[in-house]
Amino acid sequence: MNNHSEIFLGTAFSSRSPKEIAICKDYLFFINAEGVIERMVAPDHAEYQQLLRTCENAENFHRLADGQYILPGFIDLHVHAPQWAQSGTALDLPLYDWLHEYTFPLEAKYADLSFAKNVYEDLVGTLLANGTTTALYFATIHKEASMLLAEICAERGQRGLVGKVVADDTEQNPPYYRDADSKTALEDTEAFILAVKKLAKKVKQGVYPVVTPRFIPSCTDEVLKGLGELAAKHNTHIQSHCSESDWAHQHVLERCDKHDAFALHDFGLLSDKAIMAHCNFLDNEDAALFAETGTAISHCPLSNAYFANSVLPAARFKALGVDIGLGTDISAGGTASLYDNAKQAVASSRMLEDGVDPALPAERRGVPGSRITMNEAFYFATAGGGESLSLPIGRIEKNYAWDVQIVDTKVKNAKLPIFDSNEDLYDIFQKIMYNVRPENIRQVWVQGEKVHERN
Ligand code: GUN
Ligand code: FE
Repeated sequence: MNNHSEIFLGTAFSSRSPKEIAICKDYLFFINAEGVIERMVAPDHAEYQQLLRTCENAENFHRLADGQYILPGFIDLHVHAPQWAQSGTALDLPLYDWLHEYTFPLEAKYADLSFAKNVYEDLVGTLLANGTTTALYFATIHKEASMLLAEICAERGQRGLVGKVVADDTEQNPPYYRDADSKTALEDTEAFILAVKKLAKKVKQGVYPVVTPRFIPSCTDEVLKGLGELAAKHNTHIQSHCSESDWAHQHVLERCDKHDAFALHDFGLLSDKAIMAHCNFLDNEDAALFAETGTAISHCPLSNAYFANSVLPAARFKALGVDIGLGTDISAGGTASLYDNAKQAVASSRMLEDGVDPALPAERRGVPGSRITMNEAFYFATAGGGESLSLPIGRIEKNYAWDVQIVDTKVKNAKLPIFDSNEDLYDIFQKIMYNVRPENIRQVWVQGEKVHERN
């Protein structure tokens, strides 16, 4: 057994499909030296008892305690790392005012690397403590501070996908916070891509550069076209905001005479490695274009409630074949927790189902078929995120990375409401999704390495 770097014995929950949870009760999990799940053995397997006897006294054997469960680490598909410093403020402003009064002045401060280090170290630690093993980050326009974020992810063992933000339009961005010009923005982006790729060679869990136009309104046509070319040249991930709010969607329609989806496509910014935040106002044609190009949606239900005043029709877009993952949208979502967002994804979808003005005639009250289950919200936070990024993460299955959170339902002062020692495991799964706090997350592992522990 010594050729395995870690062996675990415990009960795990993972998505079998968007609607179905796989429950692996008392399985043995063998993790290889690369941090990948090599073998999973069920208790009824002929070799189980013998395997258990051989490995149970080994130093690398981990037996979960009673009341502990293994879940895949969460994949946060939309985080503005610099905005962590304002999380929980100004959530009642309109998006445009929030950007100009709060967000741009804050993001401008990341020219100062010591300020950036302070916030970014705290954020990466906080996300890990909340069970987030992979994050897709917007940094700021600053090349150096963006690089610092990638280095902190590398050091702390989080799988980080990081973008230097591009915002070069002189009308939409304030003079104190924008790229010097489109040429400099493209040169800085390419230098950033190369630097992150160089760093990645030394990082077990992976760090990845991401081409990151903030959103169409903040960028010139020239820079958007150049960024599409850079993403193709270096085969990188791409991220932006797409059809988020009435204001943003309308702005693009007036400027480009088409929806964001088709405009982004024309600039070469939709691909199998592209992830677009929000997407509340996609129509079915836009969604079909996403499905055809492999572009994913990062669903940010809390942020959508605060700033887009809207609910993503997630069930409809999933049925149209679009990849969907979940995002906190720090700081527009007001929390670092994907548990909070999974709960909100379920709640918001029910409001879309029939929660409109009761005075309306029945046929105009909501959209039947909109409701999603917690199984689907969990899928978005895990397997759906992995599919969106085209990486083998987000499932507890052979050949997937050992990216997990070990949840303890019996922590003192943070016990989950489980009173029956034979409680149905699917009920326990649901209680975990609705009740877990960081206090319950005992350990977090990324690519077979322990990166967080709470005693
Ligand atoms: N649109 C452009 N920038 C942002 C941002 O930072 N947050 C959100 N929610 N929407 C945006
Ligand atoms: Fe955002």
